[in-house]
Formats: sequence, structure tokens, C-alpha cells
Amino acid sequence: MSATATGPLGGQRILLCVGGGIAAYKALELVRRLRDAGASVQVAMTAGAQQFVTPLSFQALSGHPARTTLWDSAAEQAMGHLELARWADRVVVAPATADLLARLAHGLADDLVTTLCLATEAPLSVAPAMNHRMWRHPATVANVALLRSRGVQVIGPDDGPLAEGESGPGRLSEPDAIVDGLAGAPAAGRTPATGLLQGLKVVVSAGPTYEDLDPVRYLGNRSSGKMGFAVAASAARQGAQVVLVAGPVQLETPPGVQRVDVRSAAQMREAVAAALPADVYIGAAAVADYTPRAFSPDKIKKTGTGETLALDLVRTPDILAEVARQEDAGLKLVVGFAAETTNVADYARQKLEAKRLDLIVANRVGVPGAGFESDDNAMTAYWPGGERDFPAAPKVRLADGLVELVAERLGA
Ligand code: PMT
Repeated sequence: MSATATGPLGGQRILLCVGGGIAAYKALELVRRLRDAGASVQVAMTAGAQQFVTPLSFQALSGHPARTTLWDSAAEQAMGHLELARWADRVVVAPATADLLARLAHGLADDLVTTLCLATEAPLSVAPAMNHRMWRHPATVANVALLRSRGVQVIGPDDGPLAEGESGPGRLSEPDAIVDGLAGAPAAGRTPATGLLQGLKVVVSAGPTYEDLDPVRYLGNRSSGKMGFAVAASAARQGAQVVLVAGPVQLETPPGVQRVDVRSAAQMREAVAAALPADVYIGAAAVADYTPRAFSPDKIKKTGTGETLALDLVRTPDILAEVARQEDAGLKLVVGFAAETTNVADYARQKLEAKRLDLIVANRVGVPGAGFESDDNAMTAYWPGGERDFPAAPKVRLADGLVELVAERLGA
């Protein structure tokens, strides 16, 4: 059976890398589901995977010999491993064991699967499967965070009964759920056929920044990142190539979005600069206005009789204003947010002018059911000579409205 142009993965070339866990048997069904969804599939297996399922089974289901080692000269002659890495529109690792995630996170290339993942330029998706204690281990948590920060899509794992009779998060997602996850994320060189922002690059900042005072304390704020993540997801759905620069937040990376995690205002500034040039910049992050003049390497102690403590803070660079001033960044539209507790419209208009923005989105914060942390918001967008109200609604819906307005202003 060859790949068909129809189906959610129509015509895509998927390289499925199978890791060595008991869930490897489910990867057989995954091959079938990927092909049903219109993809053509080639399979590479780790040595561990071959302990659970045979290469022959994958060959029968995929229609191609499964690759098992870097050192097979006949297979290399038919299609070199670098050629296979280039062939793929996307690479999917399922099941991704704790060991495989660690090796991928740290860029090892000590077997066929890790070499293919390092050599490919196609987007990488991983579907983890392991014991729940291994999934929760700080080492695995850090490895998954590192992979996410590089834009790797993580699908699952599910919560439920595990092979060894225990229960918890660690089950490989069902093949249909993996196919759905892949269908929501663009593959290499492919963007949705239609979309208001198709062909444009959009950089979005989201979440708070944390300014470290000493090894135990930092200055932060209440931003959850929900608004910025919703904007990034909406722009990606509209066909944009999206880079999301995220402060410390607990949110999943939206499908098809390249995420860069940062902590401080200084790191956010650096990551935003590295993501440019772009067509659109949307600053939804709540960047700290002040940061400690110096980081104290030792915990700041209470002084003998002192009832008060004065912190010596200095201004952070205004990332948004810097981006708006940058003339060689190719930007067609720079969008800011204004979080205000009073005089919302006045302060927003002042920021629009002072920071030389094309558009500013004002929202009232400090009220229940809107602003920071909440799933809902209400906002008004201002641009020179116009404004638009976005009445109270879930942030995901408001983000769609804002992205439509961005597309309109780009065409204005
Ligand atoms: O993350 P959520 O919980 O969803 O909440 C985010 C939000 C709903 C409040 C969001 O809509 C919002 O208003 N985000 C921006 C909050 C903010 O920091 O506003 P501000 O008025 O302090 O900053 C104005 C603009 O300048 C913002 O675009 C900000 O990203 C930018 N800025 C500010 C300071 C600085 N040093 N650099 C900047 O780029």
C-alpha cells in the first residue's frame, strides 16, 4: 500500500523509531494507523526494541525493511541512514523509553535511532512509555523539558495500568491518539493549505519572567502564559511558523509551535533577538520591569535588628520597544499587551505611542475572571486611528480574534 494524498497525514513520509519497551508491540498497530491516515512509513528499531518485536513484523506492516543497525552494509547501500533522515517529513519515536529520551535530550548518536534523530531536520515527536516512577524522576522530567524547549512534540503518556501491575502515568498513548497528535502539528516543509498567516513567521513571548535574588528567592509575577500560548497556537493554526519564547510556565507546547524556554528578562531578550527576523512580534509576556542589581550567591540573611529590607533594583531592557525600533528585523507588525489596573485605555494608548507599536492589546488585571491566571479575559485592541473590543470570553477564543485582527492589520 502506498501513501495516499487523503487522510489527516496525507502523503507524509514518517520515520517511526521504535524504542525498547514492552509497549513496542503497540508500535505495530501504530504503523497500520499511520498508513490508514495516508502516510508512508519506514521503521528504525533500537536493539532493545528487537527484544520485544521482530523487524520482520514491521517490514510486513510498513512495506519496507525495518532498519536495525548503523552497521548493515546491504541496508546502507539501499538507502544510507543520512538519506533516510532526509527522506522523513517527520520523525516519531514510539515508544520513547526513559533511556531514549535522555539520549535524545543530550544529543547522543550512539546507535541508529539516535543518529537518525540527530541527523534529521524534520520535526520530532516522541510518545513516552515507561514505569510511572521513571516518568516522574527529576532526570526524566528535566530531559522532557529540554526536548520541549527545542520544539519537540511530546504526545502522552497516558495514565493507567502499567505492564508490571502498577498504575500511573507512563502508558504509551493509543495509536489513534498518536495519529491525532501528529495530525495537529505541521511536518517539514508543510503548512496548512490555507490560513490567514500562511507563509509568515510570528514570534510570540508569553508568561512571566523570574528575576533571581539569591539561590532561594526570585521576583516574579502572576502571569500563567495562557494568553500568549493561546495566541501562539492560533497563529500556528493559521499557517504561521511560530516561535514561542516562554517564561517559566506549566503549559504544554501547542502543536506545530517551536518553543524556547527562558527564565529572566535578560534571557527573554536574548531568545527574542535570536528568533528574529520575523514578520510579526507579539509581546504577551509579563516581563519584569526591574531586576536585582546583583545576584547574591548566598542566601540573603535577616539582619540583626532590621525590620525592613531594601532591595537594590535596576530597570530591565524593554524588549518590546527594542523590537519595535529594530529596522533590520523584517517586522511588518509589532503587537504589545498592556496589563493595567486603572485608566486602561489611556495607559494603553500611551504605550502604543511611546513604544512605537502597530497595535496594543489592553486588559484589566487584578479583577476576578480576567487578566492573569484566569482561563478567560476581556480586552480592547488599539492602533493608530482605530480600536476593537473583545468582550469577555475564553483566552483561546480571544486569541483567534486577535490573530484575525493581526491578519487584517497586515493587509491594511
Ligand atoms: O499569562 P496570563 O496569565 O494569561 O496573563 C497575561 C495577560 C492576560 C495579562 C496578558 O494579556 C498581558 O497583558 N500580558 C502582558 C502583561 C504586561 O507585562 O504588561 P505591561 O503593561 O507591563 O507591559 C507592556 C508590554 O511591554 C507587554 O507587551 C510586555 O511584554 C512588554 N514589556 C514590558 C517590560 C519589558 N521589560 N519588556 C517588555 O517587552
